[in-house]
Amino acid sequence: MVNILAVGDVVGQNGLEYLTRNLYSLQREYDAAFTVVNAENAQGRGLFSTDADAVFDAGADVITLGNHAYSKREICDYLDETANIIRPANYAAAAPGVGECTVERAFGSVRVICLIGRKDLDYSPDNPFVTASRLLADGTSTITLVDFHAEATSEKKALAWYLDGKVSAFWGTHTHVQTSDARVLPGGTGYVTDLGMTGPADSVIGMDVRQSVNMFLGLPKDSYRAAAGICVIEGAVFSVDELSGKCASVRIFRR
Ligand SMILES: [Fe+2]
Ligand SMILES: [Fe+2]
Repeated sequence: MVNILAVGDVVGQNGLEYLTRNLYSLQREYDAAFTVVNAENAQGRGLFSTDADAVFDAGADVITLGNHAYSKREICDYLDETANIIRPANYAAAAPGVGECTVERAFGSVRVICLIGRKDLDYSPDNPFVTASRLLADGTSTITLVDFHAEATSEKKALAWYLDGKVSAFWGTHTHVQTSDARVLPGGTGYVTDLGMTGPADSVIGMDVRQSVNMFLGLPKDSYRAAAGICVIEGAVFSVDELSGKCASVRIFRR
């Protein structure tokens, strides 16, 4: 059995620093053999290559992204040049970076796929269900992990059921609010609707509270500010049989 740690969206430099300080001890605590971190918000909207380097240095094996993959244009070349950082696979084939990677480890190979949802997100990616089917028909790895970056709980649950038994673990990101529905689906896919985030606790999904409230009041928007203050790190640990690729248990965590 190998334990796979999945960590929710890193928000702001505050969140990045908290990740750097806490990831190693979390990996020790859960005896994690493999770690995936979503880092699309290290600069609030998007991330710089230096942020990605810091996430790898903190102990991530793979970095996943989402709707803010290209919000900082400087990252585009880095995505083309750097292994193990992936953007949604259902973005245009010509878009910078790739949507999946396979990492070899002593216990076997781990394939990680990133997908983005279409419901209530203002982008027009390919259908994630169709893309997932195509990718899984293209190749296999005993352990396959999916980060589904999506707004709607319905879309996340539907894709998880659609892929049940075909992937080892499937988790949602993007909403930055951890859900309590972690479970193993009947086919052996470990699932949670949203990992949560790694970022400031007194915030609105990582954003400065006053700025977010003003936005909803309809006051003029200013540029994104991540909140200050004490952080949380949230995510899930999937225990996966490295021979069958089936998930045996899932636990969520918050520190
Ligand atoms: Fe996010
Ligand atoms: Fe997002």
